[in-house]
Order: sequence, then structure tokens, then C-alpha cells
Amino acid sequence: MNQGYRKYIPFQPIKKDDRRWPGKQLTRAPQWCSVDLRDGNQALINPMNLSEKVEMFRLLCEIGIKEIEVGFPSASETEYEILRALIEGGHIPEDVTVQVLVQAREHLIRRTFEAIEGAKNVIVHFYNSTSTLQRKVVFRTDMQGVVDIAVEGARLIKRLGDDFVARTGACLRYEYSPESYMGTEPENAVWICRRVMEELGACAENKIILNLPSTVENCLPSQFADLIEDFCDRLPNREHAIISLHPHNDRGTALATAELGLLAGADRLEGTLFGNGERTGNCDIVTVAMNMYTQAVDPQLDFSDIGRVRQFYERVTKLHVHERHPYAGDLVFTAFSGSHQDAINKGRTFMARQGGAHWEVPYLPLDPADVGRQYEPVIRINSQSGKGGAAFVMEQSFGYRLPKAMHPEFGAAVKRYCDRVGREISPDEVMAIFREEYADFQGVYTLTAHRLTEEESVDGEGAAGFAGKLRRGGAQEQEISGMGNGPIDAFFRALEGVGICGYRFVDYSEHAVSVGADAKAVCYIQLQSPAGKALFGVGMSHNINYASIRAVLCAINRDQD
Ligand code: KIV
Ligand code: ZN
Repeated sequence: MNQGYRKYIPFQPIKKDDRRWPGKQLTRAPQWCSVDLRDGNQALINPMNLSEKVEMFRLLCEIGIKEIEVGFPSASETEYEILRALIEGGHIPEDVTVQVLVQAREHLIRRTFEAIEGAKNVIVHFYNSTSTLQRKVVFRTDMQGVVDIAVEGARLIKRLGDDFVARTGACLRYEYSPESYMGTEPENAVWICRRVMEELGACAENKIILNLPSTVENCLPSQFADLIEDFCDRLPNREHAIISLHPHNDRGTALATAELGLLAGADRLEGTLFGNGERTGNCDIVTVAMNMYTQAVDPQLDFSDIGRVRQFYERVTKLHVHERHPYAGDLVFTAFSGSHQDAINKGRTFMARQGGAHWEVPYLPLDPADVGRQYEPVIRINSQSGKGGAAFVMEQSFGYRLPKAMHPEFGAAVKRYCDRVGREISPDEVMAIFREEYADFQGVYTLTAHRLTEEESVDGEGAAGFAGKLRRGGAQEQEISGMGNGPIDAFFRALEGVGICGYRFVDYSEHAVSVGADAKAVCYIQLQSPAGKALFGVGMSHNINYASIRAVLCAINRDQD
């Protein structure tokens, strides 16, 4: 037995008996901040180049994100130049704020203020590590030492910031992160944030952003939510601060941490598209936003063309959005299971009939159209698909509305094919099966000539006459003719004349279908065979009467072994 787990120190949750957040609901969007260009970019094997960063910045603006951390301009020349390019190239919309990250160190802070020259709306985001572990193994200092670093940084930032605003008239805000907050004693986190607030003169008109990162995720989302609610309760002048979250995803629960943290009182969320970021990534903004959307809350972000966002993301990050990634993955609007397919079909029919204002389709929490996704690939066919799945594909992909009674027979033919090929099959293959089974079925009987006439019957009622030539296998063709109360009846009589009898008409349906640029009638016939078996036939023609005659012959041909 591997005893390795013994070396880990479990998270110590705070004792909290007055938690209020579990009874709350998310009713409005948080203040979103994208860290794609900083946290996300620094975690790429090949970081984005200048033009990709500018493109990413534009995309984030188009999505509706109003606060964008563009980099760490004091950390490298490249980062500096990217910020300058955004400012000097006039790429920053009036309503968008650029955020710049800096460590709480003098020379870096000064360089950061040089980098933001000319920007109209800026957040200067500074941080230092505060956790017990970082204090012990990295900085070798006590909490007072860490508080002093933050306070000195805040003091300098305030001085340079006041000058900057007086000189440029820019709108400048401040953000402070006690880095590794999740590993910081709760009272120490409040202590350092309170001191930074005092130094920066945070007030209701100029709130400070206090960003409480789970730099390395280390606890249950509920335990983190307790920390946030506790922090908000303990912080003096809470109303002078915007509480922000920055959840990393080390335990795979950044998203839940974000959502519960917002319930617990946070106002703002930092994250990235599809969760890119250091190690296992940051919180995925797309999913948090779409989770709100599907709870009837306006996320204030636009993912109506999620495919475009994903394509762009994959191109510039060289990362892949997983097939099952919520809302954006290739397979998330796809049902393989037959019972799911049937339920989706029923849900869609229900919605079409009711015309209701609400989305009520089982197994699809989101209308794919809301993220610009096609409805066609919702149902894919493999051997697990139910009888409705194949019929659904015929309707969705090709416009053929197979009668319900025919679904089991056609579904079984498709299943046989899937079992044989041992893989999922495409809509075109479903169509090919349909043609082979019905529309193009070559049976023992071939109609080599046919003519329909309208006749006057003896009792004065309208009637139909059929005349044609029928060949059985390789035999000589025979003249056939008959009269009936309609074309199908007349054809039956003509067949009886050559001994093809005992077939009973059960059901009939027809509709028009486009075949390329052409429109044709497609007719579905259900007969009962002389042996009492249900038989289906399909006929297609420009002429609806010929389509029905072909359908009858198809059904009879399918009865001949
Ligand atoms: O994860 C983190 O703690 C950070 C800080 C710089 C906010 O990225
Ligand atoms: Zn981070």
C-alpha cells in the first residue's frame, strides 16, 4: 500500500457556525477581470506574440470584459512593449480598464508607472506573498515583515498614483493581492488588507480591489467560501473594498470555488477563457458566465459565437479545448444514448407545439443556438442509439419525416450497420442506409412503364386508372392495368390482375423534400403482408402519385425473400 499520502498536511478549515452563503443565490454577474494576457500567457509553452496579444485583447473587449490584466510590464521588455502598443495603438476602448501587475517592490513599481503613461483607465495591481508556508520557506520573515512590504509598496503606489492622476487626469484604481491568501491565517489576511486600505485611502468613492487568490487551490470550495464570508465579516470598512477572487484549479474545483466564493460575498472574479493559467489553470470565465446564463442570470458577457472564441483561443494558445468542456467542447451537444435522443426529440417537439418562453429540453441544459452551435450534430448515431435517433438525423440533416411506425424498422437497420462497422456513423451513412433499404431498393418486381389516368366511374365519382408494364426478375414483362378510387387503389387492382394479392393498405404519408436544387415528393407507405407482417415502402418522384406507386412496390418488393 502506498503510504505517500501521509506526508501531506491537510487543510485546516475555520470553525464557522454562522455561515449564510449556502442559502444565497447568484443573481447578478460579478465584475469580470480577464487574466488571459498575464496569468494565462505566462503559463503557455509558447507565449503569445505582440499581434496575438493585441488580437486577444480585442476579442476580450468584444466579449464584454471591462477589466483586462494585460501583463507584468516591469517584469520584461516584451511585457512593457505590449502595454505600450495597446496604449499607443489606441486599442483600448473608453469603457475598458487595463490592469497591470507588479510586485510590491520599489523599482518595479516605478517602472510600472512609466509603462501606464497615456492610459486613461488603469488598475495598478500589486502583490506580495503572505502565506505561512511562503513566510517560512521563501521569505524567512514573520507576518510583520510581510505587512511592512505591502504597506511600503502601497505608500509608494499612492504617491506615484496621486502624481499620475494630477498630471494626466486618468482614472486610476488600485488592487492588492495577498498572494497565497488561501494559506494565510484569516486574521493575518485581514490585518494586511486593512493596512493596505489605510495607506491607499480607500473610500466609498474610490474603492480598493482586494483580490484573495487561491494561488494554489488547497481546500474544498465550501471551506474556501467560509474563508471569504469570514473575511468580509471581519474586514473594517468592507464597503470601501471590492472583494475579488482569483481561483486556481489545482484540485479541479476552481469553478466551484468561484461560484461559492461569489455566494459568500465576493464581488469580482479574475479568470481566463477556458481556464488557461499556471499549472492546472485559472477559473474558466466562459463556464462561470454560461452557468449564470442557464440560471436565467445575464452574465453581461457575450458567448453567442463560442466557436469563434474557441478557435481563436486554440490558435493563439496552442492549447486544445476538450471535447467535453462545458458549453464549448465538440461533444457537449451530442447525445449517443438512445433514450437521451428520444427525450431530446420529445423536448423539441414539445417546445415547437407549446411555443413556450422557456427552454425545456431534457439532456440539453442550453439551447445550442445560444452559443452559435448547430443543432444538427446533436444526435450522432452509433450502435447505442435508439430507434428515434436515426429518424431524427433523417429529418434534421435531410428533411425526411419518417412516420413514427417506421422508426423501429429503420432504427434496426441502422443498428445492424453500426454493429457491422463497429463505430459511430455519419448522417451521410444514415442516408445511404435509408436509400439502400427503401428509396433505391431493387426488388424482384420492376415497373418498366406506367401511366395514370383520371377516369369517370359508373356512379359519377372521380376515379383513377393505372396501366403499366411489370417485370418479375429476369422474366418477360407483363402488361398490367386496373381501376380504383385513387392511384394507389388502381395500382393494387393492377397488381391483383397478375396474382400479386393479399396486401392490405395500412397507412400513408407524404411531404416534399429538396434534392439538390430540385424538389421531389417523398411518400411512405405501410402495408400489411398476406402473412400479417408490417411492411414499409418509400417512393420518390416529381409526381406525388408516382411517388406513392413506387412506395407500394417498394413495400411489396421488401416482402419478397
Ligand atoms: O495566483 C496568484 O496568486 C496570482 C497573483 C499574482 C494574483 O496570480
Ligand atoms: Zn494566478
